[in-house]
Amino acid sequence: MISGMRPLIVAANWKMHTTPADAGELARVIAARTREPGVTRVICPPFVCLPAVREAADEDERKNGPAEPVEVGAQNIHHELAGAYTGEVSATMLGGLATWVILGHSERRRDFAESDELIGLKLVRALEAGLRPILCVGEQLADREAGQEIAVVERQLRGALAAIDAPALRDGGLVIAYEPVWAIGTGLTARGGDASAMAEAIRAVVASLGWTDAPRELPVLYGGSVTSANIAEFFAEHAIDGALVGGASLKPDEMAGIVARAGVTARARLAELPAS
Ligand code: PGA
Repeated sequence: MISGMRPLIVAANWKMHTTPADAGELARVIAARTREPGVTRVICPPFVCLPAVREAADEDERKNGPAEPVEVGAQNIHHELAGAYTGEVSATMLGGLATWVILGHSERRRDFAESDELIGLKLVRALEAGLRPILCVGEQLADREAGQEIAVVERQLRGALAAIDAPALRDGGLVIAYEPVWAIGTGLTARGGDASAMAEAIRAVVASLGWTDAPRELPVLYGGSVTSANIAEFFAEHAIDGALVGGASLKPDEMAGIVARAGVTARARLAELPAS
C-alpha cells in the first residue's frame, strides 16, 4: 500500500462460474497479465475452486515476489462457525484458502433472502476470522427513480454495521462495494458522478456510526456491468477506489484492461499527493 492514499482495489467476482479443473489456469493468466504497482487484486471464485486459485496465487508470488500478491476471496460465508447447516461453509473453514470475503451481494439478498441483520452477523464472523470483508450495498431501479437511493443504501449500511465497533471495522479493513442492483449483469451502469456521490454518502454514514476517519480511510468500490471500456469514467472519480467486477472478470483481456486503468489511476493519484 502506498501511504497517504487509499489503494486501488480490483475484485473479481466469478460467481457460479469455473471448475476446479480450469479455475487455476484462469487465475494464473489473470495474475500474469494484471500486475500493477498500487493496485490490489482479489479473485473470488466459487468455494470448490478456492484451492486451485490459492495455488495459482502462491505460484505467482513465488515467481514474482510478495510485492503485489494476488489475493483470494470467497463469495459468502455462513453466520455461524459450525453446526447443523447443510450445504454451508463457515469463515474458519476458509483458513489457508481465502483472506477476503464478499458479503451481502444483491444476488444473495434476492435469492437467499439475506437481510441486513443477517449480513451483519456474517460480517462479525468474517472480522473474527480475519477475512477482509467487501460489503455490497445498492438500490433497485425503482428506488433511484423515486430519489430514494441514498436512503436505501443508508438503511443497508446501518442494518449491517450497527452492532459492530468502528475500530473492528477499521482494523478489519472493511471495504464497501456500491452496486446498483439495476446495473448488475444488465450492461447498464451508473454515471461516474452518481457513483461518486453515493461513495461520499456511504463514507458519511459510516463516519456517523463512529468510524470518524471513514472519509479518509474507507475504500468504496463501484460494481455493476464494469468493463475495460467503461471503467475510466469511475476511476476518474476520486471518491471511487476500485471496482467489483462480475462478468468481465472471467475474461483475461477485460481484467488486463481494467487493472491497467487502475494502475494509471493509482499513479495519477500518487502524483497529486502533497510532498511530505
Ligand atoms: P457484473 O456483476 O459486473 O456482471 O454486472 C457485478 C457483481 O455482481 O459484482
